[in-house]
Amino acid sequence: MSTVDVKDAVRKRYAQAALRVGATGASCCGASSVADPCSPITSNLYDTAEAETVPEGAVLASLGCGNPTALAQLIPGETVLDLGSGGGIDVLLSARRVAPTGKAYGLDMTDEMLALARENQRKAGIENVEFLKGEIENIPLPDNSVDVIISNCVINLSGDKDRVLSEAFRVLKPGGRLAVSDVVTRGEVPDLIRRDVLLWVGCIAGALQDTEYVAKLAKAGFEAISIEPTRIYNVEDARVFLTGKGVNVDAIAPQVEGKFMSGFVRAVKPKDHPVK
Ligand SMILES: C[S@@+](CC[C@H](N)C(=O)[O-])C[C@H]1O[C@@H](n2cnc3c(N)ncnc32)[C@H](O)[C@@H]1O
Repeated sequence: MSTVDVKDAVRKRYAQAALRVGATGASCCGASSVADPCSPITSNLYDTAEAETVPEGAVLASLGCGNPTALAQLIPGETVLDLGSGGGIDVLLSARRVAPTGKAYGLDMTDEMLALARENQRKAGIENVEFLKGEIENIPLPDNSVDVIISNCVINLSGDKDRVLSEAFRVLKPGGRLAVSDVVTRGEVPDLIRRDVLLWVGCIAGALQDTEYVAKLAKAGFEAISIEPTRIYNVEDARVFLTGKGVNVDAIAPQVEGKFMSGFVRAVKPKDHPVK
């Protein structure tokens, strides 16, 4: 698939997901298909106390694979940007943490998701939030303007991850932090197996291997890079999906175990990076 085709497929998938939440209020937490019931990837990411602070629609629309706001350090007064903000849950949670003087931006390319997010913002009555339309490969914000970039299971959907990371670096202030949840692989996985399992996860553009992720972040200019596993998937999680694709799950199990995970990726833009 070309980068343009990937983007089009991703946009269609999430437009459907947003419309489904809007129409039925039903949770569409399956990453591999909007018809998929709660998957082990997207379910139970937020604790009850946290979820109660945002509208139910934002929780039901959650399609992430982690909880970046729980792991990121956010300070009142800071500017936060969520790449691929979906129904807006992480933007709303961040906005409360940086209030009253800070601001949270959500960036998404899908009109239907932006409409859902703005509706959730209205219901939450939170004012220090702005949802922007655009692509994470071309962030519509000035250089050196953001303190913290969060993201929840979106960078793995991009066909041009180098571009996303260099845009993230550009908009961060010197000393700014990247704190994102993403699907990551580790160790060697045969190509065919890798493709099938990533399809199950919903990563049609392909997730990065952990070492590759670290190398790309370093190439973009980041330092203090780390990836912490937050959920590790086993082949049982994907059995129904893989069997339906004609894969002999028992035969490939040893090559899958422990190799697909949601990770929390941290990195910092150097404090002394020159501001032109
Ligand atoms: C897996 S959902 C995650 C949504 C949200 N972060 C959450 O945790 O619920 C992916 C979201 O990213 C958006 N998205 C995917 N690729 C994008 C891109 N290249 N630029 C902007 N938005 C993108 C989709 O429209 C969708 O809303």
